[in-house]
Amino acid sequence: MTGEETAPTSTARFPRSSWNRFCQWTLSEWDLDVNQFRLDFVQPRVAALIGSWGALDLESVSEAVKDRPRARMELVETLSLGVSELFRNGDHWMHVREHLTRRAKAGPLRIWSAGCSFGAEPISVAAVLKSFCRGDHTIIATDMSEQALSRASKGFFYDDEMVEVSQWMRAKHFEKKNGGWQAHDDLRSMVRFQQMDLLTNEFESDFDLILCRNVLIYFSDSAKDRLYKGFHNALKPGGALFLGCSERMFHSALLGFRSKTPFFYERPSEDEHWRSAS
Ligand SMILES: C[S@@+](CC[C@H](N)C(=O)[O-])C[C@H]1O[C@@H](n2cnc3c(N)ncnc32)[C@H](O)[C@@H]1O
Repeated sequence: MTGEETAPTSTARFPRSSWNRFCQWTLSEWDLDVNQFRLDFVQPRVAALIGSWGALDLESVSEAVKDRPRARMELVETLSLGVSELFRNGDHWMHVREHLTRRAKAGPLRIWSAGCSFGAEPISVAAVLKSFCRGDHTIIATDMSEQALSRASKGFFYDDEMVEVSQWMRAKHFEKKNGGWQAHDDLRSMVRFQQMDLLTNEFESDFDLILCRNVLIYFSDSAKDRLYKGFHNALKPGGALFLGCSERMFHSALLGFRSKTPFFYERPSEDEHWRSAS
């Protein structure tokens, strides 16, 4: 420590100027906006992580992670805490159900859960489809975290991850087991899990719905815009993007979306697009 002023919290671990430089560095190197997390949450976690990399202070981090492509994943895992639950923000899911039931009338659906963590989100989608939308639908669920995906493949959830799941849904699609809930195989088999880094990998296309919730909070504004454009291209006309409850796409119209609610955005169908342009 240099005796320099630390950030104003009792848990601040780093001098303010080196913390600011670290935040600049993660932003420019990795498009990760660490700055927006609360210091008392983020600094102890970063301190423990860089310690495990063998870096003694923030200045030596760039050297310590050189030629270590896993380092960014470890930082994201450290920040994300892997928090998720089934039907997170329960009341928002009525938009998902309405969108899927309407579109399923025209044929099989393609859905992408981007940043799916340990699988609560795609399994929620599978439960909606199984319950309300006949047909042979596809759900792709991706995350950059190997740890999260390894848990996701098991389809097992703890009580506190199931609070938004109705008794009816539990009885229909889950079995009480080992102090938690096991999703039935017919739900699990609807989901294809795969590792993917949203910032560097190519997107698949022709989706009726993309869920990307509580993921973009880690990203710089320019990375967010790049991703919104990518999601727009990856959606079918009439498809929708579902964001987390505190996320909001500013200038959605400029990006070609129609905002249904602050968290649900549709790519207009070609007809609507030309009607609104003329
Ligand atoms: C807080 S969890 C959100 C889980 C779920 N979408 C939800 O809202 O409940 C954020 C997830 O985003 C993933 N993630 C963060 N950056 C990513 C990236 N660049 N590519 C893919 N996944 C990423 C993390 O690994 C983590 O599992």
